[in-house]
Amino acid sequence: MPGMLLLFSTALLSSCVQLLAEANSWWSLAMNPVQRPEMFIIGAQPVCSQLPGLSPGQRKLCQLYQEHMAYIGEGAKTGIKECQYQFRQRRWNCSTVDNTSVFGRVMQIGSRETAFTYAVSAAGVVNAISRACREGELSTCGCSRTARPKDLPRDWLWGGCGDNVEYGYRFAKEFVDAREREKNFAKGSEEQGRVLMNLQNNEAGRRAVYKMADVACKCHGVSGSCSLKTCWLQLAEFRKVGDQLKEKYDSAAAMRITRKGKLELVNSRFNQPTPEDLVYVDPSPDYCFRNETTGSLGTQGRLCNKTSEGTDGCELMCCGRGYDQFKSVQVERCHCKFHWCCFVKCKKCTEVVDQYVCK
Ligand SMILES: *[C@@H]1O[C@H](CO)[C@@H](O)[C@H](O)[C@H]1NC(C)=O
Ligand SMILES: *[C@@H]1O[C@H](CO)[C@@H](O)[C@H](O)[C@H]1NC(C)=O
Ligand SMILES: *[C@@H]1O[C@H](CO)[C@@H](O)[C@H](O)[C@H]1NC(C)=O
Ligand SMILES: *[C@@H]1O[C@H](CO)[C@@H](O)[C@H](O)[C@H]1NC(C)=O
Repeated sequence: MPGMLLLFSTALLSSCVQLLAEANSWWSLAMNPVQRPEMFIIGAQPVCSQLPGLSPGQRKLCQLYQEHMAYIGEGAKTGIKECQYQFRQRRWNCSTVDNTSVFGRVMQIGSRETAFTYAVSAAGVVNAISRACREGELSTCGCSRTARPKDLPRDWLWGGCGDNVEYGYRFAKEFVDAREREKNFAKGSEEQGRVLMNLQNNEAGRRAVYKMADVACKCHGVSGSCSLKTCWLQLAEFRKVGDQLKEKYDSAAAMRITRKGKLELVNSRFNQPTPEDLVYVDPSPDYCFRNETTGSLGTQGRLCNKTSEGTDGCELMCCGRGYDQFKSVQVERCHCKFHWCCFVKCKKCTEVVDQYVCK
């Protein structure tokens, strides 16, 4: 019984098991597309046992909420894509390694980058589930039932079908946190610190989506007079959620675990993190060099910008190792003309540009 084995080794070699568990996370749902609900045979269990990366608790939730799984996968994918966008100009660029370990070993380190990854993927799940509810894709939820905002002008109608962020938030909490809640580490241990860190960052991600959802309205009335408005709750664009979490990444708080099993600030002069803030427990590994132990891919071969002084500039990106220059041919659409009616025809133009890659 693999379950029994896992229990035994948890007691003996908890950190070793954690390594395996982390390497095989629900994030892999993003890599191996989950079949659409209509493909499921009602009550068929194998779907859940075949999905990679689920913890035992998540597997149970999968059996109860099979039709949610495709959206969890979609949410994880949205989160990972956003992570890659936000970090495209950084030494660590949120690249995924393969479809089983997804991010590779770097996620075993409780760094700021790991904090961001947990937050943004939890946020992705809230986003995807909330929208799926509104679109009527899930049998256990529908349009948002948020009460009419008090400050909404009286003659505006409240009632369009809104994104169900309450449900999305609750479901994501249940599902994403499950794998942390079923771990049972000694109070005050490093492993417990990491569990608390993950839980805090998952929550921060979910709250970002929840808090940024806002009222959207549509005009009605005689020939666009807008004498009547219908309003509903609508998710923010996910890019905005990503931007917000990136700010939280920049101001993330360094924490350590106390003997009583609570996280406390390393530097007590800083402000106590709120549930919306990101926290981390380990310093970041060196992302400059490839390192099998830490899982860092290094920046060799990364494109950099010769004139930028920012993190995408060759100086910082290549960690002072220097860079190689090469010419690259880029094809662009150009001289576009509008033809009646209705298409646009373009020519292809090629341009030779200088590019730089880190040594
Ligand atoms: C990884 O993904 C590729 C294509 O996306 C697939 O062919 C391969 O079987 C996957 N590997 C695993 C271990 O899931
Ligand atoms: C890889 O990282 C570990 C942990 O930071 C460090 O001890 C080790 O020296 C590094 N190895 C190489 C080859 O840089
Ligand atoms: C991210 O970094 C890795 C490792 O340096 C590299 O292989 C990959 O191409 C990079 N991805 C992007 C989009 O730059
Ligand atoms: C390189 O950086 C400079 C200065 O920040 C910027 O103006 C330019 O657009 C960048 N080039 C590319 C190709 O991103």
